[in-house]
Amino acid sequence: MCGIVGYIGTQAATEILLSGLEKLEYRGYDSAGIATIWEGELNCVRAKGKLYNLRSKIEQQENSSAIGIGHTRWATHGKPEEYNAHPHMDMAGRVAVVQNGIIENYRELREQLKAQGHEFVSETDTEVIPHLVAQFIKEEKALADDNSDNIFFEAVRKVANELKGAFANAVICADYPDELIAVRQQAPLVIGFGQGEFFCASDTPAIVSHTRAVLPLENGEMARLTPLGVEVYNFAGVRQRKQVRMLSLSPTMVEKQGFKHFMLKEIYEQPGVVRACLDAYFNPEGDNAAISPISLGLAEELYAELEQIQIVACGTSWHAALVGKYLIEQLANIPTQVQYASEFRYAPAPLTANTLTIGVTQSGETADTLAALGMEKERRQGREPKYQARLMGITNRPESSLGHMVPHIINTLAGIEIGVAATKTFTAQLMAFYALALDLAARRQTISRDRLEEIINDLRHIPKEIESTLESQEKLTEHLAHDFAETQDFIFLGRGINFPIALEGALKLKEISYIHAEGYPAGEMKHGPIALLDAKVPVVAIATTGSVYEKVISNAQEAKARDSRLIGVTPVNQGEAADVFNDMIPVSEVDELLSPLLTVVPMQLLAYHIAARRGLDVDQPRNLAKSVTVE
Ligand code: F6R
Repeated sequence: MCGIVGYIGTQAATEILLSGLEKLEYRGYDSAGIATIWEGELNCVRAKGKLYNLRSKIEQQENSSAIGIGHTRWATHGKPEEYNAHPHMDMAGRVAVVQNGIIENYRELREQLKAQGHEFVSETDTEVIPHLVAQFIKEEKALADDNSDNIFFEAVRKVANELKGAFANAVICADYPDELIAVRQQAPLVIGFGQGEFFCASDTPAIVSHTRAVLPLENGEMARLTPLGVEVYNFAGVRQRKQVRMLSLSPTMVEKQGFKHFMLKEIYEQPGVVRACLDAYFNPEGDNAAISPISLGLAEELYAELEQIQIVACGTSWHAALVGKYLIEQLANIPTQVQYASEFRYAPAPLTANTLTIGVTQSGETADTLAALGMEKERRQGREPKYQARLMGITNRPESSLGHMVPHIINTLAGIEIGVAATKTFTAQLMAFYALALDLAARRQTISRDRLEEIINDLRHIPKEIESTLESQEKLTEHLAHDFAETQDFIFLGRGINFPIALEGALKLKEISYIHAEGYPAGEMKHGPIALLDAKVPVVAIATTGSVYEKVISNAQEAKARDSRLIGVTPVNQGEAADVFNDMIPVSEVDELLSPLLTVVPMQLLAYHIAARRGLDVDQPRNLAKSVTVE
């Protein structure tokens, strides 16, 4: 959470920083600020609320500084007020710092600094950094000869060694106007290389319109950016040799391309995402020579003697993991546990032998998921071979912290997702689980070759099926949004493999429309939640054909008998379904196992249209951020 950006070069920094922050706003958006060095002074401008508030403040200024840092905030320490917004400065206003992360030992540092006469003006943990840098510059100056060109860098390096926690910082100092120092410890930071200009940012969309040549810093590394180039060091001050690489992301991928919101664009991208996953995970159609029709490219040792799988994830990724559990258990017959990463960290299941642990995180940066995997790795260290950690990640960002942490990754290939509510990345995570479960089933021969090929063949039709229903679903959900924009409570029901889709439907609605919603296994309603139902509480029921169709219809009848308005997401438009549902959103009829790939789309559209109808900020809902890098 929080986005940081930095620039040093030949152009005016302000516009580059502002447009970079616009691309990072998904990481936090309760306040923003930038600092530049102009006419020998730090010029720091900050504003509460969305970035346009900052932009309108800055537009009144004349400033063509070619160095600066910027920040968009998701509050952790201190309220979202201007005085807590970044950049933060030292008392003399010579050093400015932006941070993504949390300094765990900031209280001690603050007390020490206070004892030395430092005064603080914010409630943030970050403010200790510029004060410490200023303090160390003073000390370094006293030690070194005044012309040393290392003073600022050395001061920041010393500070980096003092800090505990997960952080990424960009630091400038008015006394060293040709240097920008970037520091990374457990929070993402990438350096960009242009022609005589250099960038740093929390994420690549912030810089991709300027350069595709990038270098992600590793934990414990810092970079010194000057107009002449970039040098990377570790925290011990040892120069590191690094390889610049080219981004595949293009600037148009981070534009709305005619859609009103990123979320809607991303919903519409799902057929293409499923196609990309099909191409990557499965051998080409008709390739009978292949031993297995699946090509995940994971190392053999991952599969050997596998007895158990545990999956850790948060939010929408946790819902994808629940679908994954269903698939792995039903297809490959391997007992599978799904845990909230934030719970697993502090109450892990007892150690089991030959266990694969999968972390699912689209961003690859979710602190709880990374910590759960880290804990698992640590507690298995030094154990006999069958208890040793086997870790795997499913992520949309293989270059993320997760990518560095686990040896095996399934890349979900959804392309960058800007809308804070996950849509296409969820579908891509489902595709990764289809491929993994089928791969395991093929290796263990838990399903017949014919069944395997039948499922893969059906999967190949999914993109077309999504495409063919998107338009009619959009019209229908838009129409329903008209009726439900003022509703206060919603219930989503599903069973079996569609229970997680009911949870996901409820989560989508909650997070972007701020309407209270609950997802329930349809059969559980009668054990309590049915008491909530009346004419004011609509119920969305997922009733796909297959093993639980009749059961869901009966559960829907029970809700109807309590006066609820029933909305069916179903391929059936006759018989009992036509009687029980007041409204029907059609989905194509497919194998029950594949139905989540279709049923989730109207859930996303319904949430989207209700939020849009309520006039809410669909892409940046209140209190949320795209990647949750704090515990
Ligand atoms: C919901 C949503 C969140 C994330 C959760 C985990 O739309 O986006 O619930 O799914 O914060 O994020 P990742 O997948 O990045 O670990």
